[in-house]
This record gives sequence, C-alpha cells and structure tokens, in this order.
Amino acid sequence: MSKRIVVLISGSGSNLQAIMDAIDAGQIDGRIEAVLSNKAEAYGLERARLAGIPALTLKHTDFDSRESFDQAMIKEIDQYQPDLIVLAGFMRILSAGFVRHYHGRMFNIHPSLLPKYKGLNTHQRAIDAGDAEHGCTVHFVTEELDGGPLAVQGKVSINPDDSAEDLQQKVHKVEHVIYPLAVEWFCTDKLQWTPEGVLLDSKMLPVEGYQLPAN
Ligand code: GAR
Repeated sequence: MSKRIVVLISGSGSNLQAIMDAIDAGQIDGRIEAVLSNKAEAYGLERARLAGIPALTLKHTDFDSRESFDQAMIKEIDQYQPDLIVLAGFMRILSAGFVRHYHGRMFNIHPSLLPKYKGLNTHQRAIDAGDAEHGCTVHFVTEELDGGPLAVQGKVSINPDDSAEDLQQKVHKVEHVIYPLAVEWFCTDKLQWTPEGVLLDSKMLPVEGYQLPAN
C-alpha cells in the first residue's frame, strides 16, 4: 500500500521539491500528506501549496519549551497517520519524546559524510580540513544530533578553488538524488532499520550506508 509521508522543513524546501517531483514521476510509491514548518516564511510551504499539499506552520517561538512544541507537532502530524517522517532542512533539535515516537520511521538529510561534521557549517569545515571529498547522508533519526544509523550517502569531490557556496551547490544536487532514493526504498520496505542494523533488500548495509555510485 502506498505510504503516507509528512515532511518537516524550515527553509527553501528544495529537498521537499525533489521528493515531490519523484512522486509525480512515479519513482516513489508514496504520498505527501502534509508539510509542516516551524517558520511561516519558509519557501517550502509555498512549494507545498502549489502542489495542493496541506502546508502547516507551527512556530516554536509560540511555545515555552522544546517538549511542548514537539508535543504540539506530534498532535498535528499524527492527524495524517504518517508511515514516514522526512526532515528536509528542519533546523530544530528534537526532544527525546519526539524521536522515540517516530522511531524507525523518521529520516534526516545532513550535508556531510557522516559521522564527519555533525552540526552546522559543514562545507567550510570540510574545506578547512583539506578534505578531498565531501557529500551528504540520509540517516534514520535517533536522540543523538545527526547521529542515527546511516542509510544512503552520496559524495562530491572538493576542488582546490571551491568556496563553501560552490560546495553547497554541488552537495545539494546529490541530496536531490539520494533523498528521493531513500524515500523510494523505504516506501517499498526495501530499506529498513532493524535492531540488527540498516537493511537494504534484507542485507545488512555497512555502517556508512549505501554509497551512491559517482557519475
Ligand atoms: C540541506 O542542505 C540539508 O542537508 C540541510 O539543510 C538544507 C535544506 O535545504 N540540513 C541540515 O543541515 C540538517 N542538519 P532545502 O530546504 O533546500 O531542502
């Protein structure tokens, strides 16, 4: 049965767009039931509206604690009975209660080759470290920030004259491939997080996840 997806955003929503496009193209057997943002001005909300998807805003600044905001989000999200929660540039740290509630059915995308460069400014940090390659990772979400088991990773090479902006653009292109791919695989039960580890086609993935072949 087609899976029900809720996407959480805080900004532009280009990853949301990539997933919507993959659904329209028939690549993903799923449906985005709602898009929720903690920022009213997030452009991703406009993308959702244009696609006829309910676009909701819940401002974290209207709540007096992380827990009360997260509980309000759960209430909102669960009306859509999602099989999968997709964090697509959702820039909020989640409470343990929220993460536990969606255990095994929540993805995040992070702009680095995790476990390297958790947190912010990943592109500049990769340049400053003199790395030859960089990339992005889709992972299942745990209570540890950017720390859950890795599902899919895509790499880009760092050229000596690349700025952080150049690198961000290159990484974004790969994000728009690996996120729809991970969602596609989750929606057909091909990709699962089990107590043994992350399985793809019933086979255990290495800790770095499935590596997207370089093109
Ligand atoms: C993406 O690059 C994503 O990897 C990053 O935010 C951007 C959102 O772009 N997420 C994080 O840094 C989470 N730690 P988008 O709004 O255009 O999809």
